[in-house]
Order: sequence, then C-alpha cells, then structure tokens
Amino acid sequence: MELKYSDLYENKLFERILDRDNDGINVVNKEGILVYVNKVSSDYANTTKEKMLGKHITEFYPAAVLLKVLENKHAILDKKIHYVGEKIYVVSSYPIYIGNQFVGAFSVFKDIQEIDELNKKIKLLELHLTLNKPENDILSVIGNSGSLKEVLIKAKRTVGSLGGPRHSIIIGESGTGKTMLANLIYNYAKKVGVIDNDAPFIEINCAQFTNPDIAAVEIFGSEEGAYTGSKQKKGLFEQANGGILFLDEAHTLEHYQNLLLKAIESGKIRRVGGSKEIGIDVIIIAASTKNLKDELLPELYQRLAQYELYLPTLKERSKDEKELLFSHFIHRYENAVKKLHNIDYKVIFSDESKNDLLTAVYPRNIRQFRDVINYSIDAAAPLISDIDDKKEITTIVETKHLPFEIFDDRIAENKNDNKAKLNKSVKHIILSLNKEGLGPRKIANRLKEKGYNIEYYQVAYFLKKNEQNKS
Ligand SMILES: Nc1ncnc2c1ncn2[C@@H]1O[C@H](COP(=O)(O)OP(=O)(O)OP(=O)(O)O)[C@@H](O)[C@H]1O
Ligand SMILES: [Mg+2]
Repeated sequence: MELKYSDLYENKLFERILDRDNDGINVVNKEGILVYVNKVSSDYANTTKEKMLGKHITEFYPAAVLLKVLENKHAILDKKIHYVGEKIYVVSSYPIYIGNQFVGAFSVFKDIQEIDELNKKIKLLELHLTLNKPENDILSVIGNSGSLKEVLIKAKRTVGSLGGPRHSIIIGESGTGKTMLANLIYNYAKKVGVIDNDAPFIEINCAQFTNPDIAAVEIFGSEEGAYTGSKQKKGLFEQANGGILFLDEAHTLEHYQNLLLKAIESGKIRRVGGSKEIGIDVIIIAASTKNLKDELLPELYQRLAQYELYLPTLKERSKDEKELLFSHFIHRYENAVKKLHNIDYKVIFSDESKNDLLTAVYPRNIRQFRDVINYSIDAAAPLISDIDDKKEITTIVETKHLPFEIFDDRIAENKNDNKAKLNKSVKHIILSLNKEGLGPRKIANRLKEKGYNIEYYQVAYFLKKNEQNKS
C-alpha cells in the first residue's frame, strides 16, 4: 500500500506525528475551548489529552497567551512566559481563519528551562570575569595620588625614560597588585610608543615548570627532532618579541636562571635542538612575593632589577584609601550588573557590615578584599530569576552576609589575646556554628582550636540571651 497525503489525517497520522514533536501544541476555538492538544502539552499539564479536550484552556494553562490572541486576533511571537512552578516556556500563538472568518487560535510552546539556566550561568560567568579584570589604566588605580604615587611614577620611568626601556622587578605580597602593575606598564609603553599597539604581553608563571627540560622548551622553543616527537615550536621569548615578558613568581626560576641570563645578555636565543640564533627584543618584568635579591643569581638579579617597584600591603594603606578601594569594588559590581541586566543597580552596606569589612585582616590583600566584597554582595543580592522586569534594584548588605573567613582571620590575629572576651567576631562565629547545629560545648571546643579561650557556659549564656532578645 502506498502512503498518500490524505492518509495523514484520515488515519490520524498527523496526531501521532505531532505527539512526537518536542514542542507543546494547543488549539482552541474562539471561546477558548480546547479542540486539540498534543502529548507534550497534556504531559506538561500533568493530565491526558482526553481529559483536556472540550474544556476551557485556563483550566490547564491559567496564563495562556492564546487568550490574548482570541481577544486581539493577532499573532504573538516568542513571548517568554513563566508558567506555574519553575517551568519557563517560549510561546508563539496564532489566530486561525477559515476563509476570512476567525474561528480560533493555536499555540506552539517550547520548554526553555535548560537554555534559560545555561543563559543564567553564562551571565554569571561574564559577571565574574568583569569583576576580576585588572584595572588597565593608571587613573582607575586607587592610591594613584597616595600610597602608589611614587611607585607609579617609577613604573612609568621603567619604559618611558629617554634612555630607553628597562627591565624591572615588582615585589609585593600576594594580591597587592603586581599583575595589575605589569599590565599598567604594558599599556603605558604602548601609549608612549615604546612598543607597538599590537605588541604582545606574555605572562609566565615560573612556578608552573617543575622540569627544567620542559621549561627550556617552553621558554626558548624547539626545533623538529630536538627530542623524540618534538615539533617546531616558538618559545615564550619569541612570542613576546617586540613586547613584554612578564615572569610571575620569578623566585621559582631556579633551574633555568643561567639560560635566561644568557638570553638577556646576548639579546639572542636558540631554540632547543636548533643551531640558528634568533634576535629578541623583549622588556622583562619579573614579579615576586619574595625579595629577589636573595633568590636569584646576582648577575641575573642585576640585569632585571634596573628598577625595583614595591607594592604596599593592604594593611599599610591609609584608612581613606581602604574606603576608596571599598567603594571602588562596589561600583565595579554595580556597573557590571547594570551592564549585564540593563537595570539600575545599587548596593548599600550597613554601617556595621562596612565597619566589619574595613577592620578585618586580609592576608591576601587587595585580591581578598575584593573577593570578600563581591562575595558579600552575592550573598545579599536577589537571584537572577527574581529580577523579572524590575528596572531598579537596591541590595542592602548586612553583617550576616559577610563570609566567615574574615572573622576567622581576625581571631587568628588575636590568638594570644587571652583576655579577649566575647567580642563581635566571636559572637558571629558562635551564631554561625549554632546555625550549623552545634551546641555550646562543641562551639567552645571549636573556638579553643582556634586559640580562643572561651568556656562553654559563656557560649551557652550568650546563645540564651540572644534567643531572649529575639523574642
Ligand atoms: N590600587 C588598586 N586599585 C584598584 N584595584 C586594585 C589595586 N591594586 C590591586 N587591585 C585589584 O586587586 C586585584 C588583585 O591584584 P593583582 O592580581 O594584580 O595582585 P597580584 O599581586 O598579582 O596577586 P598574586 O600575588 O596573587 O598574583 C585585581 O583585581 C586588581 O585589579
Ligand atoms: Mg599576580
């Protein structure tokens, strides 16, 4: 038997085909009574096709877009709607005419839950990328007329002085802005024309090489056949040619200091397994958390340390500067959200939470300060799904939104201070641990592990008082 087009509806084949579709389909007459639904639609409504037919669509889809089409007789395309529960659909609805008589409407809808979730994840990633991007011009660096004034002048001099660009060293504890400063030097060098606008900035974390042979290949490149399976490959020096080579954690250079020294002294390198010398013109910036004078070969140190730039810790910065950094990171967050979601976004820290943040101890300096601020705003901010169509949102950050770690670090600092009683940070810890389900004895033990001499009855008393105050 031959399949003919007429068989499709005569034998209800259309229905079977439409039931296999991934989209839901509803057809109503002009009163809104369902005359056809496919299986996807009845599955969504958690019932059967038979139970739906002949009933009004609102019994199953209270917010049906079809109702609007019945009213206006115009198609509505891709309207994103939230349906009961968590499900999210894109619906397109169309009027149905027979001849020129309006007889009803149909809609096709697609569950976009997964796409929607992916979309949210991408947006979140984008947000975090923006928040973690280093400042790229000197004007947006906090402290440019304060604690960093001198170091920034010196940094400009490394590449901008009349005698030509020089190699330099940046020393600073973790998170004090070394990578940022290297980027600033790079941008400045481009601005004054010492390097081309498309000059490379190549960053190497020297600690990543544990094997000196691999390090040599990575840094100097290799020729085909230099070792089994080796290919012709440009090393990092060649890649950085005409630009900047940023050697991060330079105190871990160890094994290949000699090779590096030779390259710098001669202005030439040779690929591993190669015989040809390749001329290189590279400005090196070496960064470290340690004093490189004690870590590097004296000759290498001398070559690199034509300028030494020191970055102060967060603790060494003035109260005003800390406040500026605080506002700076809040603004960055606000702006990133504004850009991403197209809403007017404002963040306000309560006086108490601001004070807690500004007086906490940050062993990992500005990076940690930034992360703690971002974390606290994250904890207080609404979920993306709660934004809906709002055009303005204000988030208020309170002490309860701050991460535990900042109170922890404060305690570490006061470790030997036995006299300290239940101060605010200890109270915060007690409440957090209590929320996790720990009782006074366990909490007291935890505090003791942290070096804090608080008795269990003190904890119990505080918790009891706290309960009373609440009620
Ligand atoms: N003075 C400043 N003004 C504004 N932002 C700053 C300042 N200093 C540092 N930051 C920001 O702090 C963060 C950490 O800085 P950066 O990554 O440069 O530190 P680092 O010393 O390289 O850290 P690590 O030792 O972990 O590599 C970055 O987001 C950077 O943009
Ligand atoms: Mg860095």
